[in-house]
Amino acid sequence: MNNMAIGVFDSGVGGLSCVKELLNCLPKEDIVYLGDTLRMPYGLKTVDEICQFTKDDIDFLNRRNVKLIVAACGTISSNVSIEKLDNIDVPFVDIINPTVNTALNKSKTKRIGIIATPATIKSDCIGKRIKSIDSNANIISIPCPDFVTLIESGHINDNLIEITAKNYLSKIIDFNVDTLILGCTHFPIISHVIRKIMGDGVTLIDSGKETALEIKRVLQKLDLLTTTTSDGKAEYFVTSNTKAFDNVAKIFLGEGKNVKSILVDIKE
Ligand code: DGL
Repeated sequence: MNNMAIGVFDSGVGGLSCVKELLNCLPKEDIVYLGDTLRMPYGLKTVDEICQFTKDDIDFLNRRNVKLIVAACGTISSNVSIEKLDNIDVPFVDIINPTVNTALNKSKTKRIGIIATPATIKSDCIGKRIKSIDSNANIISIPCPDFVTLIESGHINDNLIEITAKNYLSKIIDFNVDTLILGCTHFPIISHVIRKIMGDGVTLIDSGKETALEIKRVLQKLDLLTTTTSDGKAEYFVTSNTKAFDNVAKIFLGEGKNVKSILVDIKE
């Protein structure tokens, strides 16, 4: 069991913000990644649709015999509770707890912003979790409906993404937060743009990175870390447009991390 891969899934490139940190903090682990690019963006779908897509994604990872499944997606984590999933037999990690805990630990003023997909913001899952731990926290939540599609189509370093980000972030700046949760795992890919607009005084919480650190803690606790000594390998599966995925992945994961994704039918 220990030497089986970690299964990570998202609607697209977003979960790579988790993979990026996994490659760093657990370099010996194998990873099976699924990006359901054909059906993205999940954040503009109904809760029923998000739930069905999640079950399909998990079935796909189950067929690849993974030891742990990670919903590296804020939309799924906020809208699909583990109780609704009847097809999981391995430990499951999502983004909510690690992201919220780190935000509360880092924030001094407890004025916290949340940016995420419309479905995540509508669920108010992250906001409610923060309030359940600290009822005095002041929270502003802003949906960013265009970010995911822009990022998936490679707008990660241009005027269009900057103008869009300025528009979404203006209310957060006015609210005077000291901490901003990037509650969609796609958003860390444009954290350089968000940082430029928010300034250095605001702590950005990368939900993908925090989830990877949680995966490490869970594997350690369950004694499921790999026993292999060689470098792990990562396999990337997508449900459409391998080229677009590979291009964004290469830029985001950095030099030497060439991604060659494999096109799959989710039912395969
Ligand atoms: N990375 C997903 C998230 O964290 C994006 C969802 C989408 O496809 O809209 O919410």
